[in-house]
Amino acid sequence: MPSSCTGDEVGCSVLAVANQKGGVGKTTTALTLGAALTRMGRRTLVMDLDPHGCASVHLGHFPENVPVSAYDLLLTEGFDAGLWGRALIRGAEGRMDMVASNVRLSELDIDLKGRENKGLLLKKLLGEAASDYDFVILDCPPNMGVLLVNAMVASNLLIIPIQTDFLALHGLRLIFDSIRLLNKVLPRPVAWRALATMFDRRAGACRRVLHLLRGKLGPKLFETVIDMDTQFREASASGGVIYDIAPDSRGAREYMALAKEIVTS
Ligand SMILES: Nc1ncnc2c1ncn2[C@@H]1O[C@H](COP(=O)(O)OP(=O)(O)O)[C@@H](O)[C@H]1O
Ligand SMILES: [Mg+2]
Repeated sequence: MPSSCTGDEVGCSVLAVANQKGGVGKTTTALTLGAALTRMGRRTLVMDLDPHGCASVHLGHFPENVPVSAYDLLLTEGFDAGLWGRALIRGAEGRMDMVASNVRLSELDIDLKGRENKGLLLKKLLGEAASDYDFVILDCPPNMGVLLVNAMVASNLLIIPIQTDFLALHGLRLIFDSIRLLNKVLPRPVAWRALATMFDRRAGACRRVLHLLRGKLGPKLFETVIDMDTQFREASASGGVIYDIAPDSRGAREYMALAKEIVTS
C-alpha cells in the first residue's frame, strides 16, 4: 500500500482497527500506529468511533468539551465543510489530528433507522474530507452495528488486533463472521490483516498461540508482533502516547516496525 493512496474513492489509506472482543489493544493500536506514522512524516488522522471514547480521553479530549464529534459528522446529511472543520482537533506540531467520540454514537443505529445507504456514510464523508491525509485510522467499537459496518466499508485495510491468548482466539469467530456477511453485499471483499498483541514471550501459552496464528493466517498476520509493555498504560495515564514517554521502549519500536510494514506493503 503506497503511503499516499490513490485509485480508491477515498483519496487516502483508511485503516480500521477492529475486533469485537474488548481489551485486545484496538485503541492502543489506533493511537500508537497513528503516532508512528506521524513520526514517519505521514499526515495522519485518528477518528474515534467507539462511544466509550477511550481514544479521545486517552489524548485528553473529554467528550463534554468536544463541540463537534464523529456522531455529528455521521448524522448530518450531505457534506458540511464547516462542521468537518469544527470536528477536527488539530494535533500540535508533529502530532496527529483527531476526530473525537461522543457517547451518543451508541444511539446511531436508532438515529439512522430508515436512512438509505447508511453503511456508506463514512466512506462518503472521508471521500469529501480526508484528501489532506495520507492515513485515516478508525478506532472501532467492539460491537457489530452501523458504526462497524461503516468503518469496514470505508477501510482499505481492516487491522484485527488479536491478543496472544487462547481465550482471545475463541472470540475471533465474530469478526470473521462479520467480514463474511459484508463480503456478500460489497462489490469487493474487505481486505484485512491480523496483528498479534500483548505477547509475553516468557509464557509458553503465548508462544503456542502465536505459532498457531502464524500457521492459520500465514501472511495475513503482520510480521510485527506487539509485546506486553507496561509503558502503554503509563502513556495513557499521562495523556499521551508511548513515544512521548518512552520512545526507545520495546512497544514504541514495535509499532514503528508495524508502521513501516504498512507503508511498504
Ligand atoms: N502491548 C500491550 N502491553 C501492555 N498493555 C497493553 C498493550 N496494549 C494495550 N495495553 C493496555 O491494555 C488495556 C486495553 O487496551 P486497549 O487498547 O484499550 O484495548 P481495546 O481498545 O481493544 O479495548 C489498556 O489499559 C492498554 O493500555
Ligand atoms: Mg478501545
